[in-house]
Amino acid sequence: MCGIVGYVGQDNAGPILFDTLKRLEYRGYDSAGVAIASDGEVLVLKSAGSISDLEKGYIDIGSPGENRGVGHTRWATHGPPSTKNAHPHTSGAVSIVHNGIIENYLELKEHLIDQGFEFESETDSEVLAHLTNFYYQGDLAEAVRAATSMVEGSYALAVMAADSSYLVCARKDSPIVIGLGEGANYLASDIPALLPYTRKVFWMKDGEIAIIDEEKVDIRDKFGDLVPIHLETVDWDPKAAEKSGYPHFMLKEIHEQPKAVQETLASRISEIEGDVKLETGLSDEEARRLDRASIVACGTSYNASILARYVFPRAAGLPVDVEVASEFQSIQLKPSTLLIGISQSGETADTLTALRRGRACGVGSLAITNVVGSTITRQVDGTVYTRCGPEIGVAATKTFTGQLVALFLLAIRLGRARNFLGCEDARKMLLELTRLPGLIQEVVDGRERIREIAESYADTDRYFFIGREFLYPIALEGALKMKEISYISAEGYPAGELKHGPLALVTEGTPVVALATYGKKIQTNIKEVGARGADVIALATAGDPDICKIATTVVEIPETRPVFSAVLCTVAVQLLAYYTARAKGLPIDKPRNLAKSVTVE
Ligand code: F6R
Repeated sequence: MCGIVGYVGQDNAGPILFDTLKRLEYRGYDSAGVAIASDGEVLVLKSAGSISDLEKGYIDIGSPGENRGVGHTRWATHGPPSTKNAHPHTSGAVSIVHNGIIENYLELKEHLIDQGFEFESETDSEVLAHLTNFYYQGDLAEAVRAATSMVEGSYALAVMAADSSYLVCARKDSPIVIGLGEGANYLASDIPALLPYTRKVFWMKDGEIAIIDEEKVDIRDKFGDLVPIHLETVDWDPKAAEKSGYPHFMLKEIHEQPKAVQETLASRISEIEGDVKLETGLSDEEARRLDRASIVACGTSYNASILARYVFPRAAGLPVDVEVASEFQSIQLKPSTLLIGISQSGETADTLTALRRGRACGVGSLAITNVVGSTITRQVDGTVYTRCGPEIGVAATKTFTGQLVALFLLAIRLGRARNFLGCEDARKMLLELTRLPGLIQEVVDGRERIREIAESYADTDRYFFIGREFLYPIALEGALKMKEISYISAEGYPAGELKHGPLALVTEGTPVVALATYGKKIQTNIKEVGARGADVIALATAGDPDICKIATTVVEIPETRPVFSAVLCTVAVQLLAYYTARAKGLPIDKPRNLAKSVTVE
């Protein structure tokens, strides 16, 4: 979605706004703009295209500006990418940047036009500029409060006025994080933007209004009363949000997976007790009363959720329903269900809405997320952090493997709490889990082989990914990665289901990636597609004597427990998608039409 930033301090706002915006470009990148205080007025620069182009224009006019401003990077919803639809939107002395959707904007627009306001853009956001201007009589915070009380929908809103020395922001269902610096304060949609400037942050809550100047930040609730700030210190290394010599964030993040998984596991495993320490918010007694888990998530996080369908019943005796969050039917939930929301960002609107609906049934809830303090963590009883560090590439990679590992840990914890899993069995599983970082590294080290395969099929117009049981979610994830960054039509299928229809699409030379580290039945499926002329790229356990006889090409995956090979196969399919997109010269970190954090339903 869109990204917003703001700065008030002692330095010229311009360079800081451009720098922080570039760090948020993964949230949206079809147009951008800044509003900077300059000589008692507000200078607004905006255009369709990249932030770097906009910045060049700013440098060309001599980098004007004073010590405060706001900025925006857009992912279009209302109105196509264009200069007039780019933010900031201005009305009188007021300039605003907005992330979210104003649902009643047509009604408000008519009302404002009747009051004599003229609209320049096709966006819903422009009503916020005119409304704030309408109410502005010297107290910007009051004007923002009045304006936001009129709107329905979601907003992360940052506002400045030519004649006031502070910024104001407001939020409802769309994230804003505020960073406190020395003689300077910041706001942004997401933490990576702020990492070089400060790591002391707090997330605004719905209904709050922030008044930010260079010395302090006041947070007021909807009644105008001051509320205390709960600062958090982010332990992400600023370097983690830099490319550090890699050509793309995606490749860097694929390479970071051994460390990311190590972090997900770190200090959570108790080998002696054969158990896991997790912040589930559930007592053992409550865990024993559960008879079902229901997981809601979107996209890659949804694919990770499907793994739980296979792992939870076996490790914890708990059946699992998995639902795409936007299709979630909460009516089925009984109080004995544990509701789990999985979201890398913790800000995905569909997932947050599904969780809210589910919780209304009175069930206990849990989040798995990567972002400390994100909205999802405030909607649930317990949070398991994946601890993968910031993920910048739009295509999720290390956070997906982090989610898989977090699900393994959660299954073991629930299994132990429910007396379903014995200490010795749990110990063996945990021991094998600790081998995963090293094994992932082996897959990464074998990347040249995957690169060759990717390059030889880069011109195909269709890919299939097939797998059974716990490898089925990895087939889905491989196909999703391939689609989103290489723009090749790709289907992830349960291997046994292919013959019930999609097999008609398999012709001479169609690449079919078979996830074959487990089970004999997949061999039948490999023969099935092979007989129709497919080129089978099999991911098989190193030394498997059978697969090499029936597949066109084999990528060897280090041996581990079959269920954990899901993590290793993931790394291989990520590399395949990455090198395919790279061979095609595509914008890997910012695929067309996509944004990393989807904060609208
Ligand atoms: C794909 C991808 C998306 C996200 C989805 C949910 O690579 O990243 O499909 O997984 O938008 O995002 P989160 O996990 O932040 O809720």
